[in-house]
Amino acid sequence: MFSVRSLAPLASAALLLALPAAAEEAVCAPVAKVPLERHLRQLSLDLLGRPPTMEEYKTFQAKGSVTAEDVRQMMGQEPFYARMREFHRALLRSNINSSVNGNGDYRVSGTPLSFAGNNSNALRGGQSQRCDGEIAQDSCKANPQDGHSLTPTTCRDEQGVPLPVSYDYDPNFYQCRLLDPASTAPELKFADCNALKADATYGKYVNFCDNRYNGTAGKSVGYLCLPDPAKTSTNVLLPSPATGVITAFVHPNPETNPSLPRLDRCTFDLARRNGVTGTWVPQRGCVQRDGYVTTTVQPYWSVATEPVKVCAVEAQNRATNPYTGESCETGRFNGDRSCGCGDKMRRCEITDVHTARVASFNEEPLLITDAVVRNDEPYFNILTTRRSFVNGTLSEFYRQKQGVNVFNVKAPADVATLPAVAYANSTTWTEYTRDSTHSGVLTTPSFLYRFPTQRARVNEFYEAFLCKHFSPAADATLPPPDDACNRENNLAKRCGCNYCHATIEPTGAHWGRYAERSALFLSPEQFPRLDPKCRDCAIAGDTNCGGECSQYVMQAFDGDGANSLGLLKTYLYRSAAEEQNIEGGPQTLVKRMMETGDLERCTVKRVWNEFLGRAMTTEEQRMYLQTLSQDFAKNNHSMKGLIEQVVMSDAYRRID
Ligand code: HEC
Repeated sequence: MFSVRSLAPLASAALLLALPAAAEEAVCAPVAKVPLERHLRQLSLDLLGRPPTMEEYKTFQAKGSVTAEDVRQMMGQEPFYARMREFHRALLRSNINSSVNGNGDYRVSGTPLSFAGNNSNALRGGQSQRCDGEIAQDSCKANPQDGHSLTPTTCRDEQGVPLPVSYDYDPNFYQCRLLDPASTAPELKFADCNALKADATYGKYVNFCDNRYNGTAGKSVGYLCLPDPAKTSTNVLLPSPATGVITAFVHPNPETNPSLPRLDRCTFDLARRNGVTGTWVPQRGCVQRDGYVTTTVQPYWSVATEPVKVCAVEAQNRATNPYTGESCETGRFNGDRSCGCGDKMRRCEITDVHTARVASFNEEPLLITDAVVRNDEPYFNILTTRRSFVNGTLSEFYRQKQGVNVFNVKAPADVATLPAVAYANSTTWTEYTRDSTHSGVLTTPSFLYRFPTQRARVNEFYEAFLCKHFSPAADATLPPPDDACNRENNLAKRCGCNYCHATIEPTGAHWGRYAERSALFLSPEQFPRLDPKCRDCAIAGDTNCGGECSQYVMQAFDGDGANSLGLLKTYLYRSAAEEQNIEGGPQTLVKRMMETGDLERCTVKRVWNEFLGRAMTTEEQRMYLQTLSQDFAKNNHSMKGLIEQVVMSDAYRRID
């Protein structure tokens, strides 16, 4: 950073020669102020992040002084704004890189484009299993998987949901060995599955022969997969029927082994979960793959033009499951065979997309502060303005409802009013007005994710903008451990905790409608103060309630809790005044703090610290703090005005 005042001697000889009498006077004469050249150098480094040019030295030497007008001129230049954005990046710690878990289960990769994470268990019967890249979904009958004894009877069900077009035995249950005419094992001495099938002795295994991709051969070749003798779960299984072609392996005493009584040969059939139509469960011990589809519609992140191969499941675009009516717009979509990634794959992402979104969210608050400083608006607009900016990444994210369940963010304004910026345009930021719930940087996804709880948000606000740290009173004493106050669930009342939490809890209420560990605004329409459905579930002991009540009090830990079942969590333990904080949002917190003078004093201290490279001493606080704060307030809270006063002050120009 440029905040450290450079005391390094002027390095270049040319520069020394260029400096006339003034420099020498400073060395000998008893003046406390830095000479013109050093003041200029400090200013240039502090405001613009670079030393002055030779021309600038010459100009100012000729002029004889640096004036407030010169400072203002510097503060009109781009490097100054870049400098202020970095100041705010540090102040707001605007980096959510490690605050958002890049949930790989919503990410596609490879060719064909496919999910590669946990959800392929539900879709394909195995961890990280992708679809079959060699079989086009809709030619599954004309172009079946070779080497298998079955061919599919239909490629999609009656609603068009893709069915498996190929299957493999899962090595978690089976030991799969390569067929090889040179093998010493008689059951493997075959060129392929067809040769095995024709054999009088080993043809009985034909159902368990399949073609698997072999890296050495560079293609799919025949394997024989039998229950793995090294696995205690499968090594007891016996062929069924005992003679003839085997269709399953069964446990001799199935009642003693309820977890794995039998393994059936793999087929193209999927079972229904608990018999529910519109749910699909892959067969135990089998990987059942959908095929691919080819489309000319590019994923939103792509600028390519050649047709794209996408796995048939991922390529779908349904709003709901056609059988159960369940939504494909929530986090469940990636495990539902009928959903898919949606139009232009909008629900899904790739790694680059995630990186771009994180970077864009990190930038947003800096652009909000930039606009306020640049336009010389009252500085604390950074905490209250509804203005914000989108680039292509964020514009499409909000407008196209992209990235389902990776970021939990509500569009900051009616999507129809959001500026339309093309995805690829990540460097152009367009201004717009967020809805009335918004409050400067305090409601940006960056702030909400970076400070994931109401308490963390309060703490950052106090530290960054009030220069206050939560600490217990010096003379704090605690009652004995058996005092009932130690068991208070309300931290604002629990003894010891209340030193800080008596302030933190009611202040946190200002972020009460922003979900924790999320950037989701909990609108009163969608999340009423009391939800009768959640209350009824809670009373019935169903704390999950279909997964819809995670923001609600579903369990009671004390009397207040028992009276609060079904209440939006943030309303627990709230007084009437605190409920107003919830409804007022962060704006009302800022408004209240504006009346204390703390915001001004803290900003003065931060600017001082930034441009003098050290905190205000007690003596300096006595001399400058009150005046600078008052002038800052009188001057319409102009940030540039405040900086100007600080860098023109005697303190800034003093030799330490
Ligand atoms: C010195 C002040 C102080 C005291 C005393 C204090 N806390 Fe905290 N507590 C904080 C601050 C500040 C945070 C927010 C920290 C952050 O995440 O930035 C916090 C956060 C928490 C959290 C984290 C969860 C969340 O929502 O962010 C819990 C839990 C908590 N406090 C419990 C307690 C308990 C229990 C006590 C008493 C035994 C206690 N605190 C005493 C200042 C205090």
